[in-house]
Amino acid sequence: MIVVKPGLPENQELVEEISSQAFSKYGDYGTLIPKFFATKGVHSFIAWDGDQAVGFALMGFLPWTGADTSDDWWIADLLAIAVDVDYRRRRVGTELMKKVMQLVQEMSGWREIKEIQLTSASDNEPALKFFKGFGFEVKDRFHGKYSSGQDAWRLVHQAPFIVDG
Ligand SMILES: CC(C)(COP(=O)(O)OP(=O)(O)OC[C@H]1O[C@@H](n2cnc3c(N)ncnc32)[C@H](O)[C@@H]1OP(=O)(O)O)[C@@H](O)C(=O)NCCC(=O)NCCS
Repeated sequence: MIVVKPGLPENQELVEEISSQAFSKYGDYGTLIPKFFATKGVHSFIAWDGDQAVGFALMGFLPWTGADTSDDWWIADLLAIAVDVDYRRRRVGTELMKKVMQLVQEMSGWREIKEIQLTSASDNEPALKFFKGFGFEVKDRFHGKYSSGQDAWRLVHQAPFIVDG
């Protein structure tokens, strides 16, 4: 049974392993993503099958204008989500996304959250299908490039954020 729990500092190495496997074709994200994990203010979730970490999600929250005042809109940024290749298509990603949506919904109680945003490679069909299923739409096809050259698309999920199931 898959159980999703908040990440702990000692889980950083596990995040590094899954990131290296999942994101190496886009550049050195095996190093970069664990750095996000350790950054103050970043929320993390780890999916466990017993004592084996099989996926993770990282969320950051940014003020819309950068002003960081209580009346500002906020953006929820899904920095990364990845599932161990042997566990894909078994709803682990779905369980992680439920926690992400739940967190955003909770944060919406005290911050005005405008949208959840994320970046995906234009050729990452599994991820694009996965995110579409959660109500994300492609908003910017010229968002930039990954360090290995793939086009980066910005996807957005507008409020409200409904947690399913
Ligand atoms: C994207 C990712 C997180 C999905 O995780 P997952 O656990 O395999 O996804 P789920 O099993 O919960 O799939 C839910 C739905 O998403 C869609 N989906 C997921 N993987 C798919 C694939 N390879 N092809 C087509 N649709 C897919 C399907 O609609 C699926 O429902 P279904 O199995 O009932 O048809 C996983 O493929 C992954 O880790 N990819 C590498 C990292 C990555 O690209 N992250 C996203 C960018 S940050």
